[in-house]
Amino acid sequence: MERTMGTMRSKFNELFGQGGDLRAYFAPGRVNLIGEHTDYNGGHVFPCALTIGTYGLARKREDRKLRLYSMNFSRAGVIESSLDDLVPSEKAGWTNYPKGVVWAMEQRGLSLDTGFDFLIYGTIPSGSGLSSSASLEVLTGTMLRDLYGFDGLTMVDLALIGQFSENKFNGMNCGIMDQFASAMGKRDCAIFLDTNTLSYEYATIRLPEQKLIITNSKVKHSLVNSAYNDRRRECEEALSDLQKVVKIKTLGDLSEEQFEEYKDAIKDEICRKRAKHAVYENQRTIRAVEALKRDDITEFGRLVNASHVSLRDDYETSCEECDYLAELAWEQPGVVGSRITGGGFGGCTVSIVANTRTDAFIHDIGAAYAEKFGHDAEFYVVEIGDGAHRL
Ligand code: GLA
Repeated sequence: MERTMGTMRSKFNELFGQGGDLRAYFAPGRVNLIGEHTDYNGGHVFPCALTIGTYGLARKREDRKLRLYSMNFSRAGVIESSLDDLVPSEKAGWTNYPKGVVWAMEQRGLSLDTGFDFLIYGTIPSGSGLSSSASLEVLTGTMLRDLYGFDGLTMVDLALIGQFSENKFNGMNCGIMDQFASAMGKRDCAIFLDTNTLSYEYATIRLPEQKLIITNSKVKHSLVNSAYNDRRRECEEALSDLQKVVKIKTLGDLSEEQFEEYKDAIKDEICRKRAKHAVYENQRTIRAVEALKRDDITEFGRLVNASHVSLRDDYETSCEECDYLAELAWEQPGVVGSRITGGGFGGCTVSIVANTRTDAFIHDIGAAYAEKFGHDAEFYVVEIGDGAHRL
């Protein structure tokens, strides 16, 4: 980390000049353990922040310019815009995310008096579905709050501002999970979040005998955002059909039994499958957290696997590569559970693997995957870290 910061500082000085009040920040990526596609259905999620994420260095300017540079996209150079030009554009590239957060702050009446220079460096593999964009949004929010003295904002506010910017500025209709995990993460804990009320609880992840392994399929299928937005629409249609026969506000209000009782009210078969996933996944998440609290790791793993099956068959957000990774993991000795994690259509699986089996897991699954798909998967043995903060 010291080395990273040193390189970032020299690059910052080279691009933007030395001196002034230069401040450093970090916001993590996330992995979701269970509770997938429930966050826009009023259900529960159970993500944790990672120790990989996005680092930022920032300093206020005297004029209204925004000058942004990413060490991950160095070929794009410094991308310049201004506080008077807060509209998304193709040429703004990755800077649409920080710009979106500045815009979202302004929508809340929090205007910036001057612009800033901002250099970032991300350690989340791009396109992996570990929330590099949410981490960049929360990083920007954390930086703006500190640099411009928006002290009234809580970390939850920063998560909401990040989500708002992604929804309204960047056109991705995501739920609150990713930004919430990046803002509110806590070392060695997962966050049990009720997305309906935003009430949450930290659950210590005590896995002395296991490791969390993320496997990156290194595939990202096209039209992910539009497929995601389609799922949302299908759930909304199912909800509105159900509301004709039962008094509920969200799909998360239903138990499995209630769903079975009322499901015929959902006219479209696809929408019925989507709603089934949302309802069952929410209940699975509640049960998984209960299992973890009683140290019943076997039951936790069983629910994690069931989550994958439901995402594969009912929600249809998995893909051939991630099905292969999860299904192969299930057959490995020492694997407690494995599932696709995040938005889906590619990206990563998360597996809970016995300490003694991690090397074999990485070796065996790595070899089989490369053989089948002709390209390598990547494996990260991850630690659970803290939410966004100033360094
Ligand atoms: C993406 C979204 C989240 C959530 C997940 C699926 O990561 O950004 O809000 O909906 O997909 O659980």
